[in-house]
Amino acid sequence: MKIAVIGTGYVGLVSGTCFSEFGHSVTCVDKDPRKIDALNQNVMPIYEPGLDVMVAKNRSARRLHFTTDLKAAMAEAEAVFIAVGTPSRRGDGQADLQYVFAAVEEAAAYIQDYTVVVTKSTVPVGTGAKINDILAARLDKSLFDVASNPEFLREGAAIEDFMRPNRVVCGADTDRAQAVLKELYRPLFLNETPVLFTSRETAEVIKYAANAFLATKISFINEMADLCEKVGADVQEVAKGIGLDSRIGGKFLHAGPGYGGSCFPKDTRALVSTADEHKVPMRIVRSVVEVNEERKRAMADKIIRACGGSVDGKRIAILGLTFKPNTDDMRESPSLDIIPALQAAGASIAAHDPKGMDEARELLENMEFCDDPYEAMKGADALVILTEWNQYRALDVGRMKDLLKAPVMVDLRNIYGRADLAGEGFKYVGVGRCP
Ligand code: UGA
Repeated sequence: MKIAVIGTGYVGLVSGTCFSEFGHSVTCVDKDPRKIDALNQNVMPIYEPGLDVMVAKNRSARRLHFTTDLKAAMAEAEAVFIAVGTPSRRGDGQADLQYVFAAVEEAAAYIQDYTVVVTKSTVPVGTGAKINDILAARLDKSLFDVASNPEFLREGAAIEDFMRPNRVVCGADTDRAQAVLKELYRPLFLNETPVLFTSRETAEVIKYAANAFLATKISFINEMADLCEKVGADVQEVAKGIGLDSRIGGKFLHAGPGYGGSCFPKDTRALVSTADEHKVPMRIVRSVVEVNEERKRAMADKIIRACGGSVDGKRIAILGLTFKPNTDDMRESPSLDIIPALQAAGASIAAHDPKGMDEARELLENMEFCDDPYEAMKGADALVILTEWNQYRALDVGRMKDLLKAPVMVDLRNIYGRADLAGEGFKYVGVGRCP
């Protein structure tokens, strides 16, 4: 099959590349010529494990192409995927759809034979209907269908999530559009991946409901962690104790500094906004958003408490800046709130991150970026683990103690335990564990 993907951001690039790995002929289009030039030399605009190898392989097999020429990309394409950004709109938190609609209008000009226009970007329910209206104003109805095929890719594991998904959701209201999507995902039928065919609106809601539910689990366990700290319980064991109940499930119950990234914060806000538009009070999701916002400030206070009530004039070593490991993405990372709060309280910051430092330099000011985690620790009054990169899981405790001015570790991801640091005289502060 021949398809076009508009937008070579995270979602478009991973999806287009994986569709080509399925054997389809894919052309990815982007307005940014530098990005396209780089991709045509196998240089990735983002860090995602395994992506560079897969791009190079499918480019050399001539199944994957990158271009700025939408017309050429769409020639003979049976489906065109819209994978442009849908950032949070200022004010109401709703997803900003200007790039989606602009892409659809441009694509409309090049539709000559029947084409399924598919939204891959996360778009509020009802967007598919609006896209349909835009196309219907320009084209004969027999030339197109509009479908919703949300992605469930986690950054850092996106290739795996695409190639071996828990499920695929296809929202398509006509047999013809369904047949195109079935053909696209045929390789997954072999390993019996559930492929759900729903209405377009249902698919649009599924995407938001999934992200909001996962975010709810995180805010829920984070509040439990606060209670555990007060009553002498351990949230890790609480998570295990409830997660073994298969109705609850053990995943996404890891307490931490709050969820970040390009999806959960944006999508939970947008869902609340959509619910408001429809006069449906979405109290649970609204609280999830509030709990997460407050959490970041609370984490700065936690660090300050661990440093004896003040960080004024103190040096704090921070390990991990990205919103989670295995990505260089800094979007809505808790570090962007926690570090400025510590600086406002008088602290100086020395930080390390394996992949996020280039982006972090653009977003965080007046701090030291260190090439090595141990360099950040030199002379620091406390060590704070903000992101659970694997390389921080087995730090040399003796060396750490020698380098730090005070042996204080605030582990906001619970990757250590008091026992790991026992005998070294460390003050260890985790999340949701007894003080
Ligand atoms: C998330 C979803 O997991 C994907 O299924 C979805 O496709 C994607 O959003 C999207 O909408 O595009 P992602 O943002 O890459 O993926 O990251 P997650 O692994 O879900 O983590 C999100 C945040 O939650 C991170 O800040 C992470 O540290 C935090 N988290 C996650 C916790 O604090 N505790 C947990 O137990 C799990």
